[in-house]
Amino acid sequence: GIAGGCGITPFRSIAKSIVEGILDIDLILFYGCNKKEDIIFYNEYKELEKNSDGKFKVVYVLAEEDLEGFEQGFITSDLIRRYTDIEKKSFFICGPQGLYNFIDKELVKENIERKFIRKEVFGEIKDIEKYEGFPQDATEERFNVKVHIGDDSKTIPAKATESLLVALERAGLCPPSGCRSGACGLCRSLLIDGNVYIPKDVDGRRMADIQFGYIHPCSTFPVSDVEMIVSREA
Ligand code: FES
Repeated sequence: GIAGGCGITPFRSIAKSIVEGILDIDLILFYGCNKKEDIIFYNEYKELEKNSDGKFKVVYVLAEEDLEGFEQGFITSDLIRRYTDIEKKSFFICGPQGLYNFIDKELVKENIERKFIRKEVFGEIKDIEKYEGFPQDATEERFNVKVHIGDDSKTIPAKATESLLVALERAGLCPPSGCRSGACGLCRSLLIDGNVYIPKDVDGRRMADIQFGYIHPCSTFPVSDVEMIVSREA
């Protein structure tokens, strides 16, 4: 398995099934983060590894830190080879679009057949600047997003061309999410202040939610500094 950021979540149930003997596979999970502090479920995964009888292992790959017990850099095919025989494996990948683009190139280099590569399909909204009504003068802009989550508040950077959900995840905040395309409402959050762009054709909010200022961060793009309340992490 290959995961980046919040893409670790689906592997949790797979690892649990291995430990409980429901699933009889060996899983090596390469998990890429910027820093150690960005790792999600670290202790839980350690415990699962310990109880898996060698069938589940996590290789942590940190892009911005060089620490003992962690790989440093990116999840390259060379790195994967150091842990496993790349030709005889299936790959399941889950994470942000940048990870898919990077891993695709790495696996193509190794002549891995497409049928052995599976990706979690997210309906991520892309090329937002091409949507009707997107303020073109905001395309290159970056804004500050003040986020209230549980008892914490944090200010994070966000690009106008990336959804607020992507900005939250990059900052290590992982509110619940599902469809990632505005439809399911799982990421529903409250916009307290600021201006946002929400493409009409992906706006799945109920009328009452629109009235009271709720947004779906996966389909909402900041066009000014923003303040919002998001649900606790999934
Ligand atoms: S994840 Fe479904 S609406 Fe945001």
